[in-house]
Amino acid sequence: MSQVIATNSEISRAAAILQQGGLVAFPTETVYGLGANALNPIAVAAIFEAKQRPSFDPLIVHIAEMDSLAQVAVTADTRVFDLAQAFWPGPLTIILPKSDLIPDIVTSGLPDVAVRMPGHPVALELIRQAGFPLAAPSANRFGKLSPVKASHVKKQLPDVSCVLDGGDCTVGLESTVIKILDDGFAILRHGAITSLMLSKVLPESKRSYENMVLEASPGMMKSHYSPEKCVYLIGIHPLPKDISEGGLITFIPKVDQGFKLQRHLSQNGDLREAAVNLFGLLHEMEEAEVQFIAVETVPETGIGIAVMDRLLKASYRFHTTGHYHE
Ligand code: TXA
Ligand code: MG
Repeated sequence: MSQVIATNSEISRAAAILQQGGLVAFPTETVYGLGANALNPIAVAAIFEAKQRPSFDPLIVHIAEMDSLAQVAVTADTRVFDLAQAFWPGPLTIILPKSDLIPDIVTSGLPDVAVRMPGHPVALELIRQAGFPLAAPSANRFGKLSPVKASHVKKQLPDVSCVLDGGDCTVGLESTVIKILDDGFAILRHGAITSLMLSKVLPESKRSYENMVLEASPGMMKSHYSPEKCVYLIGIHPLPKDISEGGLITFIPKVDQGFKLQRHLSQNGDLREAAVNLFGLLHEMEEAEVQFIAVETVPETGIGIAVMDRLLKASYRFHTTGHYHE
């Protein structure tokens, strides 16, 4: 794993670019983000342009200190502070009523804003030096694979001149996105903070995982996180007859299965390790001389739910039918 950390002078230069209304790609523990001043609608508009992202898909606002929360969101609910205490800085995004300071372009006109405090020192230092919260989606072109190292950002967004390097992302999947409800919470996007972890902090939650509502979120498209090559999920999509030109990603190491290139997500069946490696291996397969990508499914427990969510979305556009979480 690469452990490059941007220098303080690189971070200061990036903060100055943000202060002038520019864009900066920066590392977080989940995936790399493409940031702009969340309080400046013109700066935020440049994010949508650079990513070719539809304007109905709202952005996450990143803060570095709890004191900044009141600037971006209306937070009377003490459960927000319990969640922040337990999981921030870290891979949890909370949907809250937005403050008047947050421009509509950030939330795509919704009354709520998504907020998180990222757990990467470069991200935190960048936000502090900039002096305002950063609106930042993942730093990939819309619908494509998320970047988990600086070179992935440069590949997809060559026009973004400032990319801070923070090494390889240690979580490797986007944050869990939740909405707090009167009687519990709903997960809008699965991630490393699992339903079980959340229900330990929100014990009054009446909704168990089984009957939890997966509410509509504009970013919950069926197709997303998708490489340029056809993705087949083994056991879900029938594989091409000739596999010799394909790539295979297995869950754990396996003997040669007859594909051109074979990789594994985890050495010994660890789902967290699989999550960390998922996007990196999909990028590698996208760049390799293989014609398609076959991937083994992983157990849908804990962070495995988020891994399967990304795999189903990555494969969706290549198949007319398939098993998918609504
Ligand atoms: O880990 C992450 O969350 C990364 C890093 C950079 O922080 N960011 C990220 O952003 O994944 P993005 O834009 O790729 O995904 C944000 C998700 C989308 O599914 C979006 O629809 C949802 O959050 N979202 C944002 N604001 C929302 C809102 N006000 N209501 C409902 N969903 C919202
Ligand atoms: Mg994204």
